[in-house]
Amino acid sequence: MTAETHANPASAAGPVRYTTVAIILHWLIAAALIFQVILGWRADDGPKGAETFALFQLHKSIGITILVLSLARLAWKLTHKSPPAPAGQPTWEKLAAHAVHVGFYVIMIGLPLTGWIIVSTSRINIPTILFGAIPWPHLPGLGHLADGAKEAWNNIGHLGHGLLVKFTYLLLALHLGAVAKHQILDRDEVFGHMAAGAKPGIKEPRLWLAAAGFAAVVAAAYLYTPAKAKAPAPAPAESAADELALPEETPAPVAAPAAGAAPAAPAEAAEAAPPADSALKDPVAWTVQKGSHLDFNLAWADTPIQGRFSRWTADILFSPEALDRSKLTVSIDLASAASGDSQRDESLQGPDFFNTSANPKATFTATKFRKTAEGRFVADGTLDLRGTKKPLSLPFSLKIDGDTATARGVTSLDRTAFGVGQGEWASTDQIPAKIKVSFALTAKKK
Ligand code: HEM
Ligand code: HEM
Repeated sequence: MTAETHANPASAAGPVRYTTVAIILHWLIAAALIFQVILGWRADDGPKGAETFALFQLHKSIGITILVLSLARLAWKLTHKSPPAPAGQPTWEKLAAHAVHVGFYVIMIGLPLTGWIIVSTSRINIPTILFGAIPWPHLPGLGHLADGAKEAWNNIGHLGHGLLVKFTYLLLALHLGAVAKHQILDRDEVFGHMAAGAKPGIKEPRLWLAAAGFAAVVAAAYLYTPAKAKAPAPAPAESAADELALPEETPAPVAAPAAGAAPAAPAEAAEAAPPADSALKDPVAWTVQKGSHLDFNLAWADTPIQGRFSRWTADILFSPEALDRSKLTVSIDLASAASGDSQRDESLQGPDFFNTSANPKATFTATKFRKTAEGRFVADGTLDLRGTKKPLSLPFSLKIDGDTATARGVTSLDRTAFGVGQGEWASTDQIPAKIKVSFALTAKKK
């Protein structure tokens, strides 16, 4: 085989090297893919915590980027001529090179697609936000399948992703082996196809540059530590607090300078500005008005999830002056939980979470109320959720203005105490145990 190649111009047989666009895409995709494989190992092996979650978010982001770049590259490939094989290359080598290149297109597109299938059919729906900024949908059609079909697709995704990963190792070994053979043994122009101006031989600096780049990408993929995931609970809780104006910030219903200093009963009586004397004695029945809402907030590692129950009722018998006889029963239709994603909401209703078919409702009953400050109370009661009853205290602020009362409150509960999160979700690595529940309601005297 003739070894020497010179920067010969494009011949009738085809161009001497890939175009600049193809070369840039090749090296970009090569670097991203190698980085991505190592990210995949790290994410898959790591303990399931916030860091693993962040690694997966990056794995998804880079994977989808590879998909987009690879589709662009395929479009290029179908519209441009590749450089010809070196003169005298045996047919089997040409076929092998062709097969490896086609194989690369299969994995460059197949890996992201199978990965995308996995996340689109996961039982818990984790939103994909590319590089923390671009929301990426689930694969159309897969998100709303019945449970069985979804699981089947999920298995296909896992199997496919795993097999394609193995296939990638084989292709890489063949590809790099072939580059070494062409460059060092055959001393032909093949490396120059992808590295403009490269001469054959071991001394070619571009060869060493590629090797150093390879090592750098491997090292970077191992050393990269994702930005620390935000502490799970505060983010959503704070936004809820902003919206709800937490009890601490709620002004006392009546400006009574002496009230704070004198915790005696008369001061309390003044506070609610009761329109009738009887209100001093009997708790009042209230009807919840439209616009009242009941929310829950949690974090999936660093992704805050905000949800709302759209169907719930509250039987309220309450007066600040008759706390000992006040009563509250809130009944929540768990199937009405909406968190902005129908697939996730279906999971929430499923046996791993609320199990709504067996326990359609959660009930909070309180018969004990305490006053903690002006306009601030705590309802001590029992939450019956998923068939488990546990004590729960609900602090709230209250303002009564004539016949209208506005109340806001926020509390947190431990989902694991109620069995919300079975199997793999029982662990609190990805979904912390604490769930914030908050409400804001307006009620009118009956
Ligand atoms: C994961 C990493 C890599 C992938 C996915 C990949 C993929 C590909 C593909 C698909 C082609 C064929 C281009 C086409 O006709 O469309 C190609 C060509 C080529 N690649 Fe890679 N490559 C990778 C890494 C590397 C590395 C590390 C080197 C060098 C050290 C390299 C050197 C070359 C060369 C020289 C060619 C031109 C071959 C020819 O013209 O026959 N590649 N690569
Ligand atoms: C070219 C792109 C990709 C490459 C090279 C790649 C590579 C890998 C590797 C090496 C693993 C670890 C497998 C193991 O240790 O057994 C992995 C796991 C995983 N990847 Fe990817 N991946 C790519 C794209 C994607 C995309 C786009 C997604 C999602 C949108 C994704 C989702 C996953 C998931 C969920 C796992 C863990 C589940 C499993 O092991 O089956 N991947 N990937």
